[in-house]
Amino acid sequence: MCVTMCAFSCCLLVTLSVPLLLFATLLVPEISSAFYRAQVSYFDGTGLLVAGLISTGRHFTYCLGDYLGCVKDQFAKELTETFSWETGVGLVAIFAPSMAYHGDKVGTIYFSHEEYRRWAYDPAAGRPPDMMVASNKTSLPAGVLPDLSPSILLNFDTGSEEHTARRQLLADGLPALAYGAKLPGFMAPQHVSPSDGSKKAAVFDTIGYNLFRSLFGVDVAEVLPAIFEYDATFTPAVLGAPLLGFQGRKLAEIRASVMRKVEQGDVARKFMELAEERGMPGKERLDEMVWIALFAGYGGTSNLAYETLKMIQKDPKLVKLFRADPDAFMLEAARVRPPVGGMNPVQYRNSTKISFSSIGKIWNAKTGELAMLLSSGANRDPQVFKNPHDFVPGRENAERLLSWNNEWGDFKSCPSVAGCPAAPRGCPGTFLSMNLAKQTVAFFIDKIPLAPSEL
Ligand code: HEM
Repeated sequence: MCVTMCAFSCCLLVTLSVPLLLFATLLVPEISSAFYRAQVSYFDGTGLLVAGLISTGRHFTYCLGDYLGCVKDQFAKELTETFSWETGVGLVAIFAPSMAYHGDKVGTIYFSHEEYRRWAYDPAAGRPPDMMVASNKTSLPAGVLPDLSPSILLNFDTGSEEHTARRQLLADGLPALAYGAKLPGFMAPQHVSPSDGSKKAAVFDTIGYNLFRSLFGVDVAEVLPAIFEYDATFTPAVLGAPLLGFQGRKLAEIRASVMRKVEQGDVARKFMELAEERGMPGKERLDEMVWIALFAGYGGTSNLAYETLKMIQKDPKLVKLFRADPDAFMLEAARVRPPVGGMNPVQYRNSTKISFSSIGKIWNAKTGELAMLLSSGANRDPQVFKNPHDFVPGRENAERLLSWNNEWGDFKSCPSVAGCPAAPRGCPGTFLSMNLAKQTVAFFIDKIPLAPSEL
């Protein structure tokens, strides 16, 4: 009996330790790159999906779970090493569970500046109507999508009639989104002090508080903890991970509590009236906007401020650089740490043949197939940004970053955030988010400890 138990334990140990050891070798960057190159060169379909999931697991382990500050950069590094900046497009296993389950297991990813722009500036880029970022809508429990209509702005092809009308409504109905908008003075919530800059909740609360004051003229102090919980619950759905029914119900409940605050303000009333005048359901459009503000607005902007503060805390010399030119500093911070992954999945409207000469493969993208775009690649493209890994506020081509999907410089030239030929699909929250993130960083930066030589 004892001998059998011992033999079983030994076998189990060997069986478990071999794959673990193999996985551990992937933590060596060169081995990981070679593994990625081999998988896209020799595997297809399910084989490539499994290998890709192992690579994804490796990146999360190597980065200790830091998706924004590290995992995306690992993906970009291996893509560029394998497919080259000149090709600018590569192949990946679809690591988002919902996307892979409902669609193809392998897809194309556009990562160079030029190839990212090819989609983001296409005035008629196709978008899948059934996706919420990396989640297929059918896999989301009730409560994750806006209550009144699951058809969100993100679902419409660029420049389609509905897309244009909804963006025009945002531009006209929400004055805080305009370039150079006059915003209410920055205020930290009462419970937050300048020495709280390393506390995620304090930074997120500060953004949330000022975001809703600026956008809708209302005070959401009471519901800030709930909004923080909302973001943590919602984020996995953005990455295509499953959410449970009770989480969907919680999201709907929190959104309703925020909506009750928003509806008390004049901005919401006027926004709904304007929508009705234009033949759109006012309440439904406001419902969508609150949903977006809680997702792109709160999450994206808070992550920009928080990641920037983390960077400064690691290297306090940066305080001086921030003080010298906060605008240039924040633009550069958004370039090296894009706070969202990139444009939402796009959809081929025609079949397209792509040649990957570096691995000797031709890919036939089918009509209806999805593709992804990676701003962490585009923003570090050496063809546009010299020494792209250096942090240089005010660098040459600084305004060409794609963190807000279209170039900041182009978007700035448009008369409004409604979208224009120069920047047809820039994020409408570009200027507001930059303003709030900058003021939030400035608020916390004074309490970052400095060496006397850095004062
Ligand atoms: C640092 C913060 C932010 C970043 C990096 C960011 C980035 C982006 C990106 C990359 C997109 C995808 C565009 C697409 O797939 O078509 C997007 C879309 C969008 N963002 Fe932002 N965003 C931020 C903050 C905000 C804020 C504050 C708002 C407004 C409250 C906002 C509103 C929107 C809207 C409405 C869309 C949909 C645009 C469309 O489909 O045409 N974002 N954003």
